[in-house]
Amino acid sequence: MCGIVGYVGKQKAGPILLDGLKRLEYRGYDSAGLAIHQRKGLTCVKKTGPVINLFKETEKCELSGKLGISHTRWATHGGVTTENAHPHVSSDGLFAIAHNGVIENYQSIKRFLLGNGYTFASETDSEVLVNLISYHYRKETCDTDKRFFESVRKTLMHVEGTYGIAVVCVDYPQEMVGARLGSPLIVGIGEEEYLLASDVSAIISRTQNVVYLKDNEVVSITPKNFTISTINRESVDPIVDQVDWAIEESELGIHSHFMEKEIFEQPVSLENSMRGRFSDDGSTANFGGLNLSSQEWRGVDRILFCGCGTAWHACLTAEYLIERFARVPVEVEYASEFRYRNAPLDKNTLFFAVSQSGETIDTLAALREAKRKGFRTLAITNGVGSTIAREADGGIYQHAGPEIGVASTKAFTSQILLSAMVALYLGRLRDMSYTDGCAFAKALKQVPELVARTLEQNEKIKDIAGRYAGYEDMLFLGRQSMFPIALEGALKLKEISYIHAEGYPAAEMKHGPIALISDKCPSVFLAPKCETFHKIVSNIQEIKARTGKVIVVTSEGAEFPADLADDIITVPDAHEALQPILFTIPVQLLSYYIAVERGCNVDKPRNLAKSVTVE
Ligand code: G6P
Repeated sequence: MCGIVGYVGKQKAGPILLDGLKRLEYRGYDSAGLAIHQRKGLTCVKKTGPVINLFKETEKCELSGKLGISHTRWATHGGVTTENAHPHVSSDGLFAIAHNGVIENYQSIKRFLLGNGYTFASETDSEVLVNLISYHYRKETCDTDKRFFESVRKTLMHVEGTYGIAVVCVDYPQEMVGARLGSPLIVGIGEEEYLLASDVSAIISRTQNVVYLKDNEVVSITPKNFTISTINRESVDPIVDQVDWAIEESELGIHSHFMEKEIFEQPVSLENSMRGRFSDDGSTANFGGLNLSSQEWRGVDRILFCGCGTAWHACLTAEYLIERFARVPVEVEYASEFRYRNAPLDKNTLFFAVSQSGETIDTLAALREAKRKGFRTLAITNGVGSTIAREADGGIYQHAGPEIGVASTKAFTSQILLSAMVALYLGRLRDMSYTDGCAFAKALKQVPELVARTLEQNEKIKDIAGRYAGYEDMLFLGRQSMFPIALEGALKLKEISYIHAEGYPAAEMKHGPIALISDKCPSVFLAPKCETFHKIVSNIQEIKARTGKVIVVTSEGAEFPADLADDIITVPDAHEALQPILFTIPVQLLSYYIAVERGCNVDKPRNLAKSVTVE
């Protein structure tokens, strides 16, 4: 949520910042701006709307400076206006800041600053922060080479809330200061150039060497080096990590949208999630980073899964999988609720966070709350080096590759697959036999191929989508482990096409949602070959009797009665426990093509951001 890029080096900063912002745009696209240190001072350009608007605006100016900061905004404090766009400049013109996060005590600081002659042009908390830096700078008496850094450090000691910041000062043409608390910030180490960014995708075209800043760390970067210390002045020995993404992975290639690209990448992303994670005897899964012995796993009486949005749906599928194979009770909570609920937990509970980005603030806070209470914490995340990955006691990287589309797709199926592998691993530590373990492991290995076959339905689904794009309401219904996929189908549709959609357990339909059924509200039924197949067929009949149109997603062996549905999408048969992965593909494609048909901005749906780093 909000993206920051900063650059200092030998090149002109402008084009590098704009390229970085373009790659970070999925973090927010309400407005964008940059501030560049030029010979005559700070030049600040801002524009509402997507980064392309800023790009056009910058064409009108001469930007030759080699140090600058930039920002793409997801509005929190204050509406979407040029005044509220970042970077914010202090009223004396000395400093500019790009800020991601929320300063909670901004009102009292603002009153203090107004009393000291500072003025404000925006409604944002960030402008308060940059003016407070200026206030401390004016009072600072330390050596000149430390004065800028010290004034930022001192300011942060008075601030409550969260921040990832990049700051420039008129008096320091060769230095930028950054810091983080609660909002991500990384340092990119290039050749005679250094960068600051909210995440790796912004700087991957320039360097693969990064330092992930920790909370309460402040960094100074110049064209020659960088130094990190804590807010309390303790020096920090930086750990340089190597990012293993290729630049092409974060580019569109032949696809029209990242969402489309990422849907079609799933055979590969699923293969990558599984790679090297089966035991030599083929009967169980292996995970390198769980940091939990077999004995400790056996001592686990309950698992609590937490996540937000699509990741929360993956948690729900984990519940079905783990309870089925390992017979360990699983609870699932929205991270945003758990963090404030003070839920009573059994002492042998294991806490599992699921997060694509590894930066979602509520999931992180839930993890911290569980840790504070002394519970063992694990995470499934795609965000290598992310805050959640670093703070959990252990975990599983998804290796699904960068996910840029705001609506999560390949990360979701990878999370389900990995939950199934955890279920296998845990099951084998309990009552699952060698033979059953081998059979399930074999079924898991077939998933990428089955997903590739499911994707072959693409044209058919596109055709169906064209016929349903005009509706304004839709229901998604499924039973048992298809219920989370129904929820996910409804979420995908509303996120990107703005059609009102609800996901429901199919049998619950009679207790309310059936009232919505008419020729104006079609339903998508997820009806795999399973124990409850005939019950679902009855539910469909109930809808048809009320003139509701029905799209059925079914599996090859189910032999769904052809005349009962208006449209049928058939996916290959798979192990029953893994069918949710296959059934996800048609609902993703359906939402995607409906949104395209409606002319929606698929990769940047209104009001949403990919990584929600504010509460
Ligand atoms: C946002 C995104 C969703 C995502 C959710 C959780 O709402 O728009 O697509 O599922 O955050 O994100 P996480 O990175 O924690 O999985």
